[in-house]
Amino acid sequence: MTIPADHVVLARDLVKSFQTAGGQVAVLNGVDLTLRRGESLAVTGESGSGKSTLLHLIAGLDLPDSGQLTVLGQDIARGDARADDRTRAALRRDQVGMIFQQFNLIPSLTVAANLSFQARLADRHDPARQAELAEALGLSALLDRYPEQLSGGQQQRVAIGRALGGQPPLVLADEPTGNLDEATGDAVAALMLALVRQQGTSLVLVTHSQRLAALCDRRVHLSAGRLA
Ligand SMILES: Nc1ncnc2c1ncn2[C@@H]1O[C@H](COP(=O)(O)OP(=O)(O)OP(=O)(O)O)[C@@H](O)[C@H]1O
Ligand SMILES: [Mg+2]
Repeated sequence: MTIPADHVVLARDLVKSFQTAGGQVAVLNGVDLTLRRGESLAVTGESGSGKSTLLHLIAGLDLPDSGQLTVLGQDIARGDARADDRTRAALRRDQVGMIFQQFNLIPSLTVAANLSFQARLADRHDPARQAELAEALGLSALLDRYPEQLSGGQQQRVAIGRALGGQPPLVLADEPTGNLDEATGDAVAALMLALVRQQGTSLVLVTHSQRLAALCDRRVHLSAGRLA
């Protein structure tokens, strides 16, 4: 099958289950998903429905049992064929920004060093661009601080800056505002959406909030292992 050039993520019939002490747990049971360049997509669903599992597959952190998954033109899985660890790690390092509920900043690095971390790994660190991003995120006065010296909303703005710093074509955000109060979460989410739109970045945003989902270009709901 030929994949149209503007398809950033293409998933067909993705199946994923986990082996547990109690037996096999089916989580994704035939997920189809298309994400186009520059598009923002909200994924909602009950706790335990498999939202994080789906993001992990797209990020190449884990592999599906079966189905087809192509991310930024890279074949992650096709039937029984799987991309190797190195290929998936390179994709994640160079082309995918990730934002988590727990911020996951590096505690021993300053805000400035956290901000440039992924861009440096991807060999795309641009000091002028980073200064601009820090300004847009309201972090310019905090660059010499350490994560423990920041509020939750400030930490999450650093995490967003880190994910966007290398201008990756794809950003995956897993409940990025789940640890923030509603007003702060909304402000941080609005900032994130404005920045991805400005950069033409594609975004998959996992959220429990219908309010945040409504801000995205498109919404899908994960239920009984499928997207609708
Ligand atoms: N590594 C694993 N081993 C076994 N089971 C797992 C593993 N990871 C996830 N699961 C199970 O898969 C299901 C989906 O988990 P997942 O974390 O994707 O849900 P979620 O939709 O992100 O939930 P939440 O909204 O609470 O974050 C759950 O039943 C979970 O227990
Ligand atoms: Mg989750």
